[in-house]
Amino acid sequence: MEKRMSEDTYVLAIESSCDETAAAVVKNGRQVLSNVISSQIALHTLYGGVVPEIASRKHIEKINQVIEAALREAGMALEEIDVIAVTYGPGLVGALLVGVAEAKAIAYATGKPLVGVHHIEGHVSANFIEHPDLEPPFVCLIVSGGHTHLAVVKDYGEYEILGRTRDDAAGEAFDKVARAVGLGYPGGPKIDKAAKEGNPQAIVFPRARVEKSPYDFSFSGLKSAVLNYINYSKMTGEKIFVPDLAASFQQAVVEVLVSHTIEAAKSLNYDKVAIAGGVAANSALRAFMKESCEKEGLKLYYPSPIFCTDNAAMIGVAGYYEFRKGVRSGWDLNAAPSLKLGQSL
Ligand code: KG4
Ligand code: ZN
Repeated sequence: MEKRMSEDTYVLAIESSCDETAAAVVKNGRQVLSNVISSQIALHTLYGGVVPEIASRKHIEKINQVIEAALREAGMALEEIDVIAVTYGPGLVGALLVGVAEAKAIAYATGKPLVGVHHIEGHVSANFIEHPDLEPPFVCLIVSGGHTHLAVVKDYGEYEILGRTRDDAAGEAFDKVARAVGLGYPGGPKIDKAAKEGNPQAIVFPRARVEKSPYDFSFSGLKSAVLNYINYSKMTGEKIFVPDLAASFQQAVVEVLVSHTIEAAKSLNYDKVAIAGGVAANSALRAFMKESCEKEGLKLYYPSPIFCTDNAAMIGVAGYYEFRKGVRSGWDLNAAPSLKLGQSL
């Protein structure tokens, strides 16, 4: 049983923005007491991607069990929780609504404060879990299935966006390329694994830069180059060696992500860099970012892979800092499917 001191703050966090139903208990914004994730990946694999309607239904089925498991694993009763935090956007509207409705019901029934959390802010905050020394400001590269941002984290919950993708998100590019070569869904981890057996120099793919916007990204040209390569190989009857293709594509993505991030940290004089989001679990990105940061004398932070992909612990961390700033959501809190980073309630 968790020993409670009166000054401690315990957050029960709920996350249901995409295909993971998750709940966690976080103590004082940094200590994860439980982190329960019920993944729907196996279900959506049948269709080659997330089916929104199926995701919402599955969240409804799982959410109570997941919350109960999170409390049980933390050794806490609901009465001992101080704050209910929930992801309210961005994400799939039906999926988000399940978490938001659940959090509102719990907060209303128990009289506890409710805090709506920005999903992307959750991803950034995952870095605070295992790095007690990390405090803002720092430069953060946020790379997930739906988002690619380069930002300065000025303070807890305060961002300055330096750049973003003009088309596909980094994770989306991984997923589309994986599907095109028959690796299946979700593509990121499959490309990561296949690339380990391949040569990143085998095929030359473009490294896209957006003119006059040194911190913006564009991945659609790279995706098209990969698709053209596949089509050309099919037409000429040449066999594709998937590990080489995976490694070469991954190298093209990683080089651009790393060079933009390092450039931003150096020219804006920040000495700390963090990475966040599902693609931050990529082994090549982690290795190349680490090597580049060391070369430039920058300190690099990244979460363990389990805290990179969707989870509720990161929502509990972000929720704690929002709560401390005085943020309280009302009963009118609603799902905000296209919430932007830096935009609040
Ligand atoms: O952050 P996340 O779990 O969900 C969103 O908020 O989008 O990110 C999921 C994305 C997917 O596109 C997935 O393919 C990618 O992260 N991903 C990876 C890896 N693990 C997950 N991409 C590259 N390498 C990985 N190891
Ligand atoms: Zn996410």
